[in-house]
Amino acid sequence: MTPVSERPVPHPGVLDISPYVPGKSKATGGAKLYKLSSNETPLGPSPKAIEAFKSAAETLDLYPDGAATELRMAIAETYGVNPDRVVCGAGSDELIHLIARGYIRHGEEAIHSQHGFLVYPIAIRASGGTPIVAPERDSTADVDAILSLVTERTRVVFLANPNNPTGTYLPFDEVRRLHAGLPSQVILVLDAAYAEYVRRNDYESGLELAATEDNVVMTRTFSKIYGLAGLRLGWCYGPTAIVDALNRIREPFSVSTPSIRAGVAALRDREHLDKAAAHNQVWLTKVAKGLEDLGLAVTPSVANFVLIHLPETEGKSAAAADAFLLERGIVLRRVTAYGFPNALRMTIGNEEANVAALEAFAEFLGTNGVA
Ligand SMILES: Cc1ncc(COP(=O)(O)O)c(C=O)c1O
Repeated sequence: MTPVSERPVPHPGVLDISPYVPGKSKATGGAKLYKLSSNETPLGPSPKAIEAFKSAAETLDLYPDGAATELRMAIAETYGVNPDRVVCGAGSDELIHLIARGYIRHGEEAIHSQHGFLVYPIAIRASGGTPIVAPERDSTADVDAILSLVTERTRVVFLANPNNPTGTYLPFDEVRRLHAGLPSQVILVLDAAYAEYVRRNDYESGLELAATEDNVVMTRTFSKIYGLAGLRLGWCYGPTAIVDALNRIREPFSVSTPSIRAGVAALRDREHLDKAAAHNQVWLTKVAKGLEDLGLAVTPSVANFVLIHLPETEGKSAAAADAFLLERGIVLRRVTAYGFPNALRMTIGNEEANVAALEAFAEFLGTNGVA
């Protein structure tokens, strides 16, 4: 028998990983559920995407097209890019992991910002690498801080723009400055999961940089504004050499036929996308203002969620607010693991959910708020 000490053990990085904790999808009370914990769209997917998804039922016995050709063509058409430089995956999470797996190994480093998306350190450690955390300024990535941490061991810089859970973004001249300061062998991953929501003249998703530079990859998702989180579908755009490497190591069939069909239909329903963006624009402003009127601090967001800071007052903490809202069916996200122990992240929902959340916060804080 194998002695206990000789059991199979994963490489050291694996046991350093804190598993990703998804948003809750259940409330504590019996009240109607308002799930505002995972940045999903309140509008749901395009009805055309649902129809296309169902149409795939007849071919479930067949393997999908491993190259997701139809989907890559639709992405290329929508964004005016070269389909050969698109890689599709089971959510952008898969692409983030693929980049880490292909380019980072034991003894090497990758940088992400202090309050950056938590999948980055998981992917870095899973590949044996060491995550290096760059401090942020005003809950926003700091280009100088990132650049000051680059060493000869750095392989990748992960930047969510806009970032989750802060909702803040880097203007594109800052992204360019970041890229210009990186050695050419370091990959800059621009994670643009929330790009479609941003209404700022100085914002760009990074598509152009990924199209023109040899070390920039942009990742996108169908989980947010397209409302297909349950399908697991994402894509990235990058230089030919990186795309070639990712295609060599990716699972051949991680994107299913229903995903390909739904993704194509979702991309073509421009009207649904515009409706979702317009809804977010209106309610992002209303929700942020409503919370601020209650005396709460809200980090300025350009995405489909807000980071709400609770007061230090006894009994008014994020944990207490979370429990109070859960009793009323309102599910928000605790963000302690992101470095915000006294804040909650709220996804912009439909009118009913947003109003219910604002009313619950008002009740929690007392009618006069905390001001
Ligand atoms: C910044 C960011 N990137 C990537 C993702 C992953 O999205 P998916 O794997 O669903 O495409 C998320 C999801 O929350 C996110 O917030």
